[in-house]
Amino acid sequence: MTEPAELQKRLELLQGISIFFTLPDSDMRRLARKLQPRHVASGEEVVKQGDVADRMHIIVSGRFEVSETWAPHHSVTVAVLGPGDFFGLSAMKGGTPQAASVTSIEQCELLELLTDDIDAVLTEDSPVRAEVERLVEQRRDTIEHLVDRAHEISTSHDGRIIAVYSVKGGAGKTTLAVNLAAALGQRNRGECLLLDLGLPYNNAALTANLVPTGSLAANERASDAELEEMLLSACIHHPTGMMLLPGALRIEHSELITPELVQRSMTALMRTFPYLVVDLGVAMSEAALSVLERAQRIILLVTPELSSLKDTKELIELFRTVLNIPDGSVTLVLNRPRATSMVDRNDVERSLGRSVDVELEHDGYRCDRAAVTGELLVAAFPASPLAKKVKALAMALETEHKAKAKTAPVAEKVAP
Ligand SMILES: Nc1ncnc2c1ncn2[C@@H]1O[C@H](COP(=O)(O)OP(=O)(O)O)[C@@H](O)[C@H]1O
Ligand SMILES: [Mg+2]
Repeated sequence: MTEPAELQKRLELLQGISIFFTLPDSDMRRLARKLQPRHVASGEEVVKQGDVADRMHIIVSGRFEVSETWAPHHSVTVAVLGPGDFFGLSAMKGGTPQAASVTSIEQCELLELLTDDIDAVLTEDSPVRAEVERLVEQRRDTIEHLVDRAHEISTSHDGRIIAVYSVKGGAGKTTLAVNLAAALGQRNRGECLLLDLGLPYNNAALTANLVPTGSLAANERASDAELEEMLLSACIHHPTGMMLLPGALRIEHSELITPELVQRSMTALMRTFPYLVVDLGVAMSEAALSVLERAQRIILLVTPELSSLKDTKELIELFRTVLNIPDGSVTLVLNRPRATSMVDRNDVERSLGRSVDVELEHDGYRCDRAAVTGELLVAAFPASPLAKKVKALAMALETEHKAKAKTAPVAEKVAP
């Protein structure tokens, strides 16, 4: 027996669902009594594409990812569903296979309605049935449209590579890369990808409180034709609007990240993402060099320590003489990950022979806080001085990108 209070809660949930708006109160109560609660662990596939379902699902709490697969290992996420959303509607359109798979991305609570129970309540001529048929069609169209978009091949390479680098670990690369990507993602939903090539692996994912499942290294054998789709399906969404792709999931996969794979991947990813922020780590590997050479913008972090200054000076020299990177492509950021420092901005500028473009203050409290809660500075403390500076930098990159896009020739689009 369901408690009256629980029944009332379920009734309210049903009343909030658009397809049931026209349902008489008595039928709504009958359906509410039929709802069966179900706990779902994270990562569970509740609906499998192609299966004929025997129930529909209403989300009470947690989030699910809807993904459509069109060939083995080729899938694209078409939606993320949350509380109050429902799925498995084709259960109400007898015998129709599910258009997409639905997998939980965290622990979830569902309420389920069996087809038999729905059939017992809703008569053949019920307006709700007509509504459901329409919605099933509409959802199918949306999914097809999104998949077509993912298929769309563009010959233009308008994506912009923004590489974040420093000569030392602990300089704030990951912190800046993640927050910069998030700030770009907040303003341009789904258009900014953070590619994590830094060591230790998945620091960016951890910083952003995400659980990575795929990576660049995992796709090293993919052909050019497969690579784009495989990489896209390995990208994870962050609530801020940015996307994230780890370089590798395990340290022993580092050697799979060849310069060639990195180049092919960047070419593929730039078709989809106007902004590609790359967290490079400190290793001056061939792969890292190949990113630096290709980046339109290098964010070079320096910390106020003598050893960091000396190595950074040599690096700037290397940019100029060996890599042919113009000074104008390098944004020099002075960061203060530690509370005290021996050198100030003037010392830095004098010793490097160039001006500091952005100076970030030490903000131990908020950085620690963000690490503990798994939130990002730009989302959790948007008004803090550090977050404001990062957002200003994101805006400057956006303006630069848009100006370049305007002067570039019109992109040629090729139909799939
Ligand atoms: N401006 C800052 N104020 C306070 N702490 C910072 C600042 N920048 C970075 N940190 C902290 O310094 C540590 C190292 O930063 P991280 O981004 O991981 O460096 P890297 O990726 O260069 O190794 C992290 O704990 C981070 O929270
Ligand atoms: Mg790092």
